[in-house]
Amino acid sequence: MTEFKARIAGIGSYLPERILTNEEISSMVDTSDSWIRERTGIRQRHIAPDGVTTADLAEQAARRALDDAGISAEDVDLIVVATTTPDFTFPSVGTLLQARLGATQGAAFDVQAVCTGFVYALSVADNMIARGQAKTAIVVGAETMSRILDWTDRTTCVLFGDGAGAMVLTGQDAGDEASPGIMGTYLRSDGRFKDLLHVDGGPSSTGTVGQLRMIGNQVFRHAVTNIAESMTTIAGRAGVTIEEIDWFVPHQANQRILEGVARKLSIPTEKVISTVADHGNTSAASVPLAFDRAVQDGRIKRGDLVLMEALGGGFTWGAALVRY
Ligand code: ACO
Repeated sequence: MTEFKARIAGIGSYLPERILTNEEISSMVDTSDSWIRERTGIRQRHIAPDGVTTADLAEQAARRALDDAGISAEDVDLIVVATTTPDFTFPSVGTLLQARLGATQGAAFDVQAVCTGFVYALSVADNMIARGQAKTAIVVGAETMSRILDWTDRTTCVLFGDGAGAMVLTGQDAGDEASPGIMGTYLRSDGRFKDLLHVDGGPSSTGTVGQLRMIGNQVFRHAVTNIAESMTTIAGRAGVTIEEIDWFVPHQANQRILEGVARKLSIPTEKVISTVADHGNTSAASVPLAFDRAVQDGRIKRGDLVLMEALGGGFTWGAALVRY
């Protein structure tokens, strides 16, 4: 059977205008700009105003990615949205987005793997393209994390923000190893750690949306170990060394996690794309947001070898390796 390779044809992202600074948060809970910066690297985060939903953010990012690819929504036959903060229990943000873009072919749905959501969604779309089930996909990470935060809990509310990022993938003949496209994805999870990072509500338990709860220092320890493992595994499977990879685009949770992983794998910090200072943790949106930033500012160029990775609630974790 013919195998196709999914190439990143376009990328886009969107952040709501409203910026919430560390100083403003310091007037809401007992914290300080210096504590937040020293422990997390975060300076500010963007917050969606009342009435603006995850689908609104997803739409803006998807339109920018389609423009960048020079592809019309009519040609899209797959939409996969990674989100933990959907507009509704159903229908999915994917189908809402499909209607807004005027896409009528193929399938649209959501994937829920919290902060690893974009890597999971990319993997699903890559596999569907490889099997010829779709030719042109939009993969989106979009979140309104501000809606599930307890704004009286200083241990969590300082960490998260809202935003969206999107990639357009097109199926190409598989070509050789050096041709552009997704070279591999690696997904993991371990449900035993659910209590370390979870939301304390849902439709079939409490009948409420719930709020995010986290034992941050324990999540931190698992993050560095599991992320490093997923990076070495995916590189090994693709037959490349960590040194050969041009750019690392991590999930943006905490600058200290980014530095811890870089140290563990002897990666020069200038190869690690970091946007956490400006966005905070935007969960599933953070990888495409950071990737787009580095494409826009000229760091990531066509032909570069890029490794994306993430860890999130569940736990879920994973990585994707792409020749951009
Ligand atoms: N301001 C001031 N003090 C605070 C704050 C705050 N915002 N938050 C916690 N503290 C206090 C605690 O109450 C504690 O005080 P105590 O010693 O009097 O009890 C002290 O700071 C130390 O708390 P720790 O939790 O041990 O602090 P730590 O250095 O681990 O930093 C942090 C906390 C930033 C949450 C860190 O653990 C972290 O980033 N963990 C990873 C979280 C993460 O990556 N989550 C995302 C991955 S998955 C996802 O994105 C969904």
